[in-house]
Amino acid sequence: MRNLLAILLIFSMPALFGQKPALNLIPRPVDVQQTDGSFRLSGTQTISFNSPDAKMIAGMFEQKISKVAGYSLKLQKGTSGAIRFNLNKTEDGRLGKEGYSLTVTPGNIELSANQPAGLFYGMQTLFQLFPAEIESSSRVKADWTVPAVKITDYPRFPWRGLMLDVSRNFFSKEDVKKYIDDMARFKFNTFHWHLTDDNGWRVEIKSLPKLTEVGAWRVARGGHFGEREAPKDGEQATVGGFYTQADISEIIQYAHDRFITIVPEIDVPGHSMAAIASYPELCCTKDPGIKVNPGSNFADWYGDGTFKMLIDNTLNPSDEKVYEFLDKVFTELAAMFPGQYIHVGGDECYKGYWKNDPGCQALMKKLNVDNVEKLQGYFMNRVEQILQAKGKKLIGWDEILEGGISPGATVMSWRGVKGGIEAARMGHDVVMTPTTFAYLDYQQGEPTIEPPLYEGLRLMKCYSYNPLPEGVDQKFILGGQGNLWSEQIQTLSHAQYMTWPRGWALAEDFWTPNEKKSWPDFVRRVEAGFDRNEIAGVNYSRAMYDPVISAEVKDGKTIITLESEVPGLDIFYTVDDAIPGRYSPKYSKPFELPEGGPVTLRVISYRSGKPLGHLIKLSAQDLKKR
Ligand code: ACM
Repeated sequence: MRNLLAILLIFSMPALFGQKPALNLIPRPVDVQQTDGSFRLSGTQTISFNSPDAKMIAGMFEQKISKVAGYSLKLQKGTSGAIRFNLNKTEDGRLGKEGYSLTVTPGNIELSANQPAGLFYGMQTLFQLFPAEIESSSRVKADWTVPAVKITDYPRFPWRGLMLDVSRNFFSKEDVKKYIDDMARFKFNTFHWHLTDDNGWRVEIKSLPKLTEVGAWRVARGGHFGEREAPKDGEQATVGGFYTQADISEIIQYAHDRFITIVPEIDVPGHSMAAIASYPELCCTKDPGIKVNPGSNFADWYGDGTFKMLIDNTLNPSDEKVYEFLDKVFTELAAMFPGQYIHVGGDECYKGYWKNDPGCQALMKKLNVDNVEKLQGYFMNRVEQILQAKGKKLIGWDEILEGGISPGATVMSWRGVKGGIEAARMGHDVVMTPTTFAYLDYQQGEPTIEPPLYEGLRLMKCYSYNPLPEGVDQKFILGGQGNLWSEQIQTLSHAQYMTWPRGWALAEDFWTPNEKKSWPDFVRRVEAGFDRNEIAGVNYSRAMYDPVISAEVKDGKTIITLESEVPGLDIFYTVDDAIPGRYSPKYSKPFELPEGGPVTLRVISYRSGKPLGHLIKLSAQDLKKR
């Protein structure tokens, strides 16, 4: 009984002291005013809507409430429901196409927007104001109240994207839908679907059946991608999959219902080994032995961004048959995807086979160009003409700038922000997806704990990102995008682990005014997000709790520094082979590793007496290499 009283007291503290409950909204809205009291959902309230589009969103709300609370709220036309979904009759200039205004009082919830997208995003905010149990996929008990607020909100950028690579590993239709569900919760509006690459062609092209009969399948291999055994002669290709055109339509509709536009990518002229395995005549070497790559190494990387492909994975820009092939692909793709953009890749195209090819040499002569980079420019311009004939706009990775590209092309800046700045200065539209802030395949915490990869990108760095480079006119920066390459990702739960919470940081980078961002406040909301993901059954990473461990060797001594990005953690460590915990030395300043024997540093972070991070174990030898 006494415990119960204590619990009640704690939970009623904010009310007793007139404090407002902390809100956990991601991305943080433009303006939030908290007012007194709360709205309590009952089974007898009505939901009103003032137009057919508003009815559609109101219906989504009603279904969610019915699923989790078991209430059947009545939907009625008009403006007098306890919960109101209204499309503005006269535009509210501040809100634009995607903004909304949400007012919650003890008597009403009122959501209004200029466009249905705004109502949809306002509804996501409203869901986040409900208790975490709203994330359940079945009926649960909860105190269905919403704190009183007045919110005015709209996005900073119109392009808020995530990219999923389904070539390196195939993700089923159901997995893709689940990924899209989570994007919608955080107001992402663009799903960039990387459908083709060296490791699998994933979209049915009816006029080119081998692309999926052959190109969608590779030999079975385990182990770290990039270090696997190459296909053997005569070995059956059994691993893979593809989306039929009916699957694609279903996913497009699913995304559309969540106000997400899909940008499909066909990565050419490089990254085309799956297409070449299907139709070897598309490349200069025409080698019929080229197979869909199973994650074996086929390139030498020289560490400065340059490389050599040991197997030909590049389309031949001098062969008219290649453009006939591309015309077929893009004709069917343009008919499938209603969005204005088609992504044509353009990245990491190896031109070594072009250099030695008589057809390419003849074309260079005809074009009067002296380097193969210009051949890629020629190729990209041909591709753009094909897209334009289908009424589509070209977007490509920043390499497309190198060979010259038409002013109408949109550039995705991935090799840092440089390409984006250059493109914007030239007057191109730009989407910022730099490796340095937005590559979700990179490791997100202590490298010895996280799944192996050659680079790291911590949550705090993602959160620090401002997609608008200094000195660049905002009108050219459409927005930003996180990219999830799937070389090392075989399951949806691992994709979720890599995406969240870094995707939340990016959602806020792309939506929230830069001056409204606050790292400590974001961390608090991330932790509330973890609780929600537990209920939603969506995986996430707790790597933010692991400290950054650095070592400096000075005068023969190794000095260790431990830094936590999460405020308020206690970091405990040992150097005596004991398991670190709350009774171990607590880190307060850099310390020296003992010398004279094999020493192991062990580290773990706690808060309020509870472990939060992983147990990290590093030998003195490994530390000295840092
Ligand atoms: C890329 O990461 N190759 C665009």
